Amino acid sequence: MWGHYDDFDPQLFDGKPYNEFYTQDEIREVVRYAATKHINVIPEIEMPGHALAALASYPELACTAGPYQVATKWGVFDDVFCPTEKTFTFLQDVLTEVMGLFPGKYIHIGGDECPKVVWHKSAFCQQLMKREHLKNENQLQSYIITRIDKFVTSKGRRIIGWDEILQGGLSPNATVMSWRGINGGIQAAKQHHDVIMTPGQFCYFNFYQGDLAQEPTAFGGSLSLAKVYAYDPTPANLSPTEATYILGAQGNIWTEYIATPDQAEYMIWPRAAAMAEVVWTPLTQKNYDDFTRRLPTHFERLSHLNVNYARTFYDALPSAKPTPDGHVEVSISAGTFASDIRYTLDGSIPSEESPRYELPLLLSKSATIRVATFQNGKPLSQLAKVEKAYLVSKATGKSYTLLNAPTSGRPDRNYSLTDGTTGAIGGYEVAGVVTFKNDLNTIIDLGKLEPVESVRIGFLKYTAKNICLPKQVEISISEDGKTFKPALTARTNAAESGKRAIIRLPFDFQPVTTRYIRIIARNVGKVPEGLRYPGRTAQLGIDEIEVR
Ligand code: ACM
Repeated sequence: MWGHYDDFDPQLFDGKPYNEFYTQDEIREVVRYAATKHINVIPEIEMPGHALAALASYPELACTAGPYQVATKWGVFDDVFCPTEKTFTFLQDVLTEVMGLFPGKYIHIGGDECPKVVWHKSAFCQQLMKREHLKNENQLQSYIITRIDKFVTSKGRRIIGWDEILQGGLSPNATVMSWRGINGGIQAAKQHHDVIMTPGQFCYFNFYQGDLAQEPTAFGGSLSLAKVYAYDPTPANLSPTEATYILGAQGNIWTEYIATPDQAEYMIWPRAAAMAEVVWTPLTQKNYDDFTRRLPTHFERLSHLNVNYARTFYDALPSAKPTPDGHVEVSISAGTFASDIRYTLDGSIPSEESPRYELPLLLSKSATIRVATFQNGKPLSQLAKVEKAYLVSKATGKSYTLLNAPTSGRPDRNYSLTDGTTGAIGGYEVAGVVTFKNDLNTIIDLGKLEPVESVRIGFLKYTAKNICLPKQVEISISEDGKTFKPALTARTNAAESGKRAIIRLPFDFQPVTTRYIRIIARNVGKVPEGLRYPGRTAQLGIDEIEVR
């Protein structure tokens, strides 16, 4: 799939087959090499969910006849293993082969993200549940995991499973990986089961590590280096005895958006260094400032090893606010790291000769600012990376009233249509865009009579989330804020699909002198045919409004 899951509507694919595998000899080499680094490789063999590839080859292991296709996109699928004796024989054969290759104590058997809809409809499953006195499908999952646990334990090994294996009752010898937050880990520790903490919000290195508009496509949310470092895997509400069941924490990297080893390194480092201190440094000795002082040494070491670590930590990020007299004041912050901040306003990549940032910049016209950091004349940040557009117009910093209330919740509720700052999209996140379930209906007060001839509106087009362009835009003007005269009515294409983006549409009209401008952008109401979810309730997403 090209781009993020929600980038394109319809989704686009590169058509390249993706079909690689390890031979047994290659796996033996991986295990042997890792052992020379004192690393124990634990394989994860997914069951009973995430099994579509197996069902494509062995449809007899499913609850219905199939046929099944190997998935062409990632995600959670309803078709899962059917717990027949044939399936158990298959899984035990696979695990036997796997245990022959991986000599470590643990085998991870997955257990996560297993929809129960097919089991619910399956006569076989319902009969099995009756025979085994299982009250529901969660207990059927527990039955499967418990049988696999018995098998693996009988071979002298131990299973690890994701926290969903708590559903329907925890199998006797299972170690739990708590990924959907920490509650699974707490429950397991209270039942005196070993736990590895790996909650998404602190431990998923496939999340963004910096500003979502600046970073390469990632899974999203957001997990900064500082947030990883701040994590404490031992929940405060465990008793001292229960706390001993928390074995430690794990950093995860999932490769939905990672196509190359270089990109994997970029996402792993330096967050893995922070995670190492989370699990290896006593709480009383953890100190983020001290960690960041030592970070350049880690970076030198990683450079020496040719590791493509992320330099996001060095990024200086601009932020802005409008001034009462209609300028945009841009401040640039380098976070915790003292450095030389250099910037350009002409689109060029900053060099150590570019202007040095000292005081907030006052923009009197729209500009794209690019920012880089330096130390002792050498670049620290990734030079071409940080770039942000600011818009200055007659509307900048001017007050407006919204005659329809914006939608609460995501995308964010920053009521900032005239603050000069443009919105951004990345991962599943949208920043700086106001959404409406009905029409945008706003009156902007320019403060005094002004000649105007054009309005430009940034619309978020994010049709995978039912945020469509409007079907029509109406602009009217008024000197007193009470009586409005129409200036323009323009049709717009609410059915536009393609790549999600903030689209700035211009609306030009006969030059007039006015103080108040009323803008109505008509919501299409229902998502048009041809988009991802036709018929659903459409929303409008509004970014910056400019008046010229
Ligand atoms: C997981 O992220 N599905 C464990």
